Amino acid sequence: MTTTASRIADPSLAAEGHRRIEWAAQHMPVLHRLAEERLTDGSLRGRRLAVVVHLEAKTACLVLALRAAGAEVVAAGSNPRSTQNAVCAALVERGVEVHARHGVTQAEFTEDLLAVAATVPELVIDDGLELTRRMAEHAPSHYATLAGVSEETTTGVARLRALESEGRLPFPAVAANDARCKHMFDNPYGTGQTTLTALLALTNVLAAGREFCIVGYGWVGKGLARAAHGLGGRITVVEIDPVRALTAHMDGFRVAALADALPDADVVLTATGLIEAVPAEALGLLRDGVLLANAGHHDREIDVPALAAAASETVDARPGVTTYVLDGRRIHVLVDGALVNIAGLDGNPIEIMDLSFSVQALSIHHLASGAAAPGLQAFPAELDDLIARTKLSTLGIELDSASDAQRRFKESWAV
Ligand SMILES: NC(=O)c1ccc[n+]([C@@H]2O[C@H](COP(=O)([O-])OP(=O)(O)OC[C@H]3O[C@@H](n4cnc5c(N)ncnc54)[C@H](O)[C@@H]3O)[C@@H](O)[C@H]2O)c1
Repeated sequence: MTTTASRIADPSLAAEGHRRIEWAAQHMPVLHRLAEERLTDGSLRGRRLAVVVHLEAKTACLVLALRAAGAEVVAAGSNPRSTQNAVCAALVERGVEVHARHGVTQAEFTEDLLAVAATVPELVIDDGLELTRRMAEHAPSHYATLAGVSEETTTGVARLRALESEGRLPFPAVAANDARCKHMFDNPYGTGQTTLTALLALTNVLAAGREFCIVGYGWVGKGLARAAHGLGGRITVVEIDPVRALTAHMDGFRVAALADALPDADVVLTATGLIEAVPAEALGLLRDGVLLANAGHHDREIDVPALAAAASETVDARPGVTTYVLDGRRIHVLVDGALVNIAGLDGNPIEIMDLSFSVQALSIHHLASGAAAPGLQAFPAELDDLIARTKLSTLGIELDSASDAQRRFKESWAV
């Protein structure tokens, strides 16, 4: 079955897409078990749902689980650099409406998202708030009728907070990123491992002994530092938050201002979630041969346009690696400054996304049941516990619980 409304690059890639989805599905036991136990109560039946997350095989498994629960799902990617055309083709062949093509321009990407908005979704799973903010701007009547949004990442939660502070969040929005089973695993462990994997796979260089500069020591930055250190890298952290900078110091890393860290860096990794983590004025500090890569949501953490404008020469050095020659120094940028682990490889490990997408599935079920009040809401703690217990159970790990005496002791002030 095909969906004629879809806009994808190449339907003939479907067989490859099915294989990728099948591989991911084999490693997502938590999502599948919770979908069977929790999503089959009919609350999602017939609900129009948009999923706008990096469109590759793990996301396809989330889409298919929600469709199996009865939702009418439309899918698009959250960044054209990470969209996998084969997965889009496989989803369309399975009857899902998809508006996503790898590598399209920002204008075409917006067209795809507005096509999703035109389906008038009631519920949205968003990443970086890419769909929701465009609906607020370009489709206000559909925005006003949204019943709920569940947001995947740090950047999107910050954007939801900004909308709410302007009084422009009339529906419930769950900060799925802030669920413990999401940000405590996906951001540090998943992104830490896969950013280093992508960096090394794209460049074929050695990590051991290299000087890494990590810009931003939040959940992602911590994971990057740990992964690079584990491979023998020497770490300098750049932070603007004093408590996080002190944490990096106590974790055993050198902490320095950007201007002091860049001249020594062999590799610069950004994870601030903001723009201009490596701004135009810092480019003159970079040494010959430096590798620049970004793990944050925005392609604008590293000012690649400024680098391109200042360069005397630009070379496609390897797939995914562009070399800019600046005052005789070679500065290598990975995947044009897009999220290197997702645009450069397959994104976070499947088992990590099994947890993150279990959060998303239960979050959208929670929104569909009408239990959440308008405004930015936390993911319910008992659902977080359920996901962690389910994951432990798939690993064959049983937990003890507190004894009655311990409970009494905890609840008493006098013992
Ligand atoms: N690539 C992935 O797979 C992936 C996965 C999860 C999250 N993310 C994205 O990664 C980004 C970071 O997420 P997080 O959870 O670590 O966020 P976070 O808010 O916990 O951490 C960001 C840190 O950057 C610091 N910072 C901000 N501006 C800075 C600057 N100019 N110089 C130095 N430090 C600066 C902040 O003080 C903060 O400590 C977000 O955009 C998030 O959406 C990416």
